[in-house]
Amino acid sequence: MVSAVEIEHLYKDFTLDHTYSIKDSFVNLFRKNKNQKRKFRALDDINLMVEQGESIGLVGLNGSGKSTLLKCISGVQMPDMGSLRVRGSIAGLIEVGAGFHPDLTGEENVFLNGAILGMSKKKIEDNYDDIVKFSEVEDFMQTNVRYYSSGMFLRLAFSVAVYSDPDVFLVDEILSVGDAPFRKKCMKRIHELKEDGRTLIIVSHSQSDIKEVTKRCVWLHKGKVMQSGETVSVLDAMNAYTKN
Ligand SMILES: Nc1ncnc2c1ncn2[C@@H]1O[C@H](COP(=O)(O)OP(=O)(O)OP(=O)(O)O)[C@@H](O)[C@H]1O
Ligand SMILES: [Mg+2]
Repeated sequence: MVSAVEIEHLYKDFTLDHTYSIKDSFVNLFRKNKNQKRKFRALDDINLMVEQGESIGLVGLNGSGKSTLLKCISGVQMPDMGSLRVRGSIAGLIEVGAGFHPDLTGEENVFLNGAILGMSKKKIEDNYDDIVKFSEVEDFMQTNVRYYSSGMFLRLAFSVAVYSDPDVFLVDEILSVGDAPFRKKCMKRIHELKEDGRTLIIVSHSQSDIKEVTKRCVWLHKGKVMQSGETVSVLDAMNAYTKN
C-alpha cells in the first residue's frame, strides 16, 4: 500500500487585517497593538493519507478550508506548519481561469497551461486536437480568453488538466459552472481516470457526485477534520450536524 498524498499536522493561517487606504494607515499609527495582525486559522492540524489509486471526497460548509487544502496539496499555497508529501505528477481544477492569461488566445493558453502542468511541447502538440475536441470550444481557439464565459474557461482548463495525464487529480467545486452535458462528460472522464488507477481528490457540495465517485470522504469544519471514513456515514453525520 503506497500513499499518493501524506499530510501530517498541517496548519495554514491567513492574516485578517489588510490595510488598504491612507486613512487606515493613519488610524493604524494610533493603534495600541498595531503590529498585531489578527490571524485566522484556515487549516488546523490536518492529518490525511490518500492511497495511490484511491478517490476521496472533501466536504464541508463554505469557508471550512476545502479549497485551501487543495491549494496546499497542489503547491499553489504553502502550509505554515506540518508536512505534506505528494508522489507523482499532480494536476487539477482549483479555480476557474487560474493559470490562464487573459490576453492570450485559447490556443496559446493550452500551450501555457500544458507547460505549467509539466507537459512537453511535443506532448501538447500530439494531444492538441483531442484537448480542443473535448472542450468543445473549437470556434474560439483564436479568441483571447478574456472574452470566454466561465463555462468556456472550465471546459478548456478541464481538458488540458485531463490530457496532462496526472497521477493525482484534484477537482474543486468549479465543475458546477459547467452545463449539464459537460458535467456529465467530466464525470465520465473522472471515472475513466479512476479505473486507470489515478488518485482523485474531489471537493463538491453535490453529495450525489461525492457518493458516485468516492468510497471515503473527509468532512472539514472550521479548518479541522470533523470526521473521516466511509462516504455515506460521513455525509450522514455532516447532514445531521448542519441541519439545525
Ligand atoms: N488568500 C486568503 N487570504 C485570507 N483568507 C483566506 C484566503 N484564502 C482563504 N481564506 C479564508 O480561509 C477560509 C477557508 O476558505 P476556503 O476557500 O478554503 O473554504 P472552502 O471550504 O473552499 O469554502 P467554499 O465551500 O465556499 O468553497 C475562509 O474563511 C476564507 O476566507
Ligand atoms: Mg472552495
